Formats: sequence, structure tokens, C-alpha cells
Amino acid sequence: MVDVSVVPEQRASWSGKLGFVLAAAGSAVGLGTIWRFPYLAAHYGGGTFIFVFFIFMLTLGVSLLVLEISLGRKTGESIIVAFTSFGKKYRFIGVFIAAVPFVIASFYGVVGGWVTRYMFAYAAGMTKELADGGENFGAFISDAPQSVAFMLLFGAITFIIVALGVNGGVERANLIMMPALILVSLLIGIYTLTQPGALEGLKYFVVPDFSKFSLELLIAALGQTFFGLSLAAATMVTYGSYMKKDVSITSSAFQTTATTLGISLLAGLMIIPATFATLGSADEVAKNSGPSLMFLVIPKVFEKFGGIATVIGFVFFLLVMFAALTSMISLVEACVSILQDTLEWKRRQALLVTVIVLSVTGIIVTLGYSSLSFIQPLGAGSTILDLLDFLTSSVMMPLGGLLMCLFFGWIRQPKVLIDEVRLSGEFKSAGLWSVMIKYIAPILLVAIFITSVLKTFGVISF
Ligand code: PFF
Repeated sequence: MVDVSVVPEQRASWSGKLGFVLAAAGSAVGLGTIWRFPYLAAHYGGGTFIFVFFIFMLTLGVSLLVLEISLGRKTGESIIVAFTSFGKKYRFIGVFIAAVPFVIASFYGVVGGWVTRYMFAYAAGMTKELADGGENFGAFISDAPQSVAFMLLFGAITFIIVALGVNGGVERANLIMMPALILVSLLIGIYTLTQPGALEGLKYFVVPDFSKFSLELLIAALGQTFFGLSLAAATMVTYGSYMKKDVSITSSAFQTTATTLGISLLAGLMIIPATFATLGSADEVAKNSGPSLMFLVIPKVFEKFGGIATVIGFVFFLLVMFAALTSMISLVEACVSILQDTLEWKRRQALLVTVIVLSVTGIIVTLGYSSLSFIQPLGAGSTILDLLDFLTSSVMMPLGGLLMCLFFGWIRQPKVLIDEVRLSGEFKSAGLWSVMIKYIAPILLVAIFITSVLKTFGVISF
């Protein structure tokens, strides 16, 4: 007789291609797309940045997505067991990348909490207070109980969705939130374009000015491709491990990238022309285009819209919250699947441990703006969040990506994964893909890594 208690839980799978693409695009489209992309574009001369970003996304981005999805699907495992299946001595690559979703989730949830608070504040009619240029924001993030509460609220919504399972929770949540996000960004984009002065801003956003082209721009576009497509963060491998063998990997990867590009452009359209109209000139937009854009400048832009400002503000932050949630869900799902597969735990146990770990780390990062603000790891004024962001985006993700490319380019041959891709359709560009994995991607990744580390430590400046 079979002892039921030792029969492993059967691995879940997406119901079809749409389920996968919406979940993968949900992971990709997040704060990085809606908040970071527009300010990078504004900062690096609009159209020029967009042009370079498109090229990176459609070459390097799609190729690495294909690598990660096929690795997940081939092994049917999350990142650590996936690498261990090629030999025990390669386990360290999986372990290194497995740390990424834990670290990103620890700070992503904090910003998710800020967004949630803004949504509620608009719902409560605080349109004027939010547009006060930063006082309200500063007071909120340094108010420990309030900011911890919102971080935990955002986390709790994510945990509940993940607890409902891959199909009943993750897939269903993306099926609802992603179309809503696209529709709402289209509506807000169209509305803001009708504002006086916006067309001038639109021109700045889309027309390339190649005199703005620089090494720094290249590095920024590369970093955005990585963070924006959730690459080398264990999530796409986990999502790939839930993909059925008859779903085309190449077209799924392409559609995920195209959706992310489309929503990035919409986010830019929502934000840049209106900001341009409010601030008056390209220079002002570029000057104000740092991380404060979303929490300080946008509320000011909305305030100008008059009576409708409260509604637009609420809907906008609801949309950003959806985007952040679908990404946070993928991070938590990756953490859960890693613990589950590696330690052979039950899903429930893995989720419980993930909830405890991420709540504690999330609280520490949140307190980095209040009781722990004396910790300034990257120099005066920096926070714990800045450190974790730097560690993941500039160090761990490019290094993890590099290890994966070197492994499948040189230690094992690309054919191992090409065969997996071919199980579900043609792979006409397999030759080009191999060149990308073996040569181009490693060179670009070493470049991002070295330049961003040197820049952070002030050895070079752009
Ligand atoms: N792609 C997400 C964004 O642009 O906000 C961030 C992210 C999510 C990175 C999930 C990595 C990840 F695994």
C-alpha cells in the first residue's frame, strides 16, 4: 500500500499560455516600470533612452527570459534544485540567485506600503496635503507605527493571494489585475495628454535626441532591462517550472517582453507630458526626475487638475498598487517554491516561514527611515533600503545573470535548453540565441557590474 503521507504534493501548472504570460508580465511590470522607467527616460533625454531600452529588451531581455523559463520548465524545479540537477557542485549558483527574491521582497514591500498609503490618503480626500512638496511624505515614512502598518497591510494582501495557490491565487489575481492596469493606464494617459502644454512634453518624451547618448545611458537601460523583466531573481525560473510542456516558450517570452514594453510606454505617457506641463521645461523634469517623482511631484501634477484630482490620484495609486502587488506576488511565490523544493517542505510550511522572514526584514527596512535611520550604509543620507536596492540591482542580479549565461553557454552547452524550447515549437533563432548567451550577454553583464560598483563608490562619475 502507498503511504499517502510521503507522496509529494503534485506541482501546480498554469492553465495555459495566457495564464503564464499574464503572471510573467505581472512580475515584470511593477514599480520599476511605472515609477523608475519614466524618470530614467526623463533623465536621459526621452526618446534616446527609449530607443536603447527597446533594443536591449528585445535582444538581451527576451534571450534571458527564454533561458530562465526553459530552465524552470525543463527541471520542473525552482532555482536551487534546478542547478543541483546538473551536478551538486553547481548548487551554489542556485543558492546565490535564490537569495535575490528574499532581499528584493524585503524592500519592495516597503515601497508597496507607501503606495498603499497614498491610495488610502487620496480616498480620504487628502489631495492638498499630499501635494505639499514632501513634508507629508517625510512625516509618513519616519512615523514608524504608521509606515510599518502599511507595509504589513501590503504584505498581508500578497501573502493571502499566494496562500490561495498558483491557480486559485497567483493566476487569478493576475488575470484580474493586469487587464485592469492596462485599461486604467490608457485612460489616465489619454487624460493627461489633453492637458495644456502636454504635447510639448510628449515630443520630448518620444523624439530621440542622440546628443544625449552616453555610456551612463547604456548602463541605465541595461539595468532597467534586468530589473524590469525580473531577470536573475529566481522568479522566472519558478514561473517557468509551472509551464506546461505544450506552451511555446519563445512566444511566451516575446509576449511578456512586449507587454512590459507597452506598459512602460504607457507609464511614461501618463507621467512625463503632464509633469512637463506642470514643471514647465525639460530641464525641470530632468531635475525632478529622481525617486521623489512618484511621491512628491506626481501629487503636485494631479493637484493642478482641479476637482478631478482626488479621483485621478486614487485611481493612479490603485493602479501602481496593482503593479507592485503582481510583482510582489512573484517574489513571494519564488521564495515559497525555493523553500518547498529545496527543503522538501509542504507549501503551507514554506509560506509560513516566508511570511515570518519577510515581515521581520520588512520591518527592519521600514525602520531605516525612523528609529534605524542612523544606519547609513552607502554614505550620509542613505538608507537600508538603498543598500538592498544597490546590492540586488547592481551586484547580485548582474552576477547571477552572468553565472547563468556562463553555465549554459560554456559549462553545459546551450543545446540543453534549446531542446527544451523545441519541445513546444520551432526555435528558428537558436543560433543567435546561443551567441547571445555565450558572448554578448556576459560582456554586457560584466560592464553593468563593474561600472555601477565603481560609480557607487565614487571611483568614476558620469
Ligand atoms: N520587475 C519588477 C519591477 O519592475 O518593479 C521588480 C522585480 C520583481 C524584480 C520580481 C525581480 C523580481 F523577481
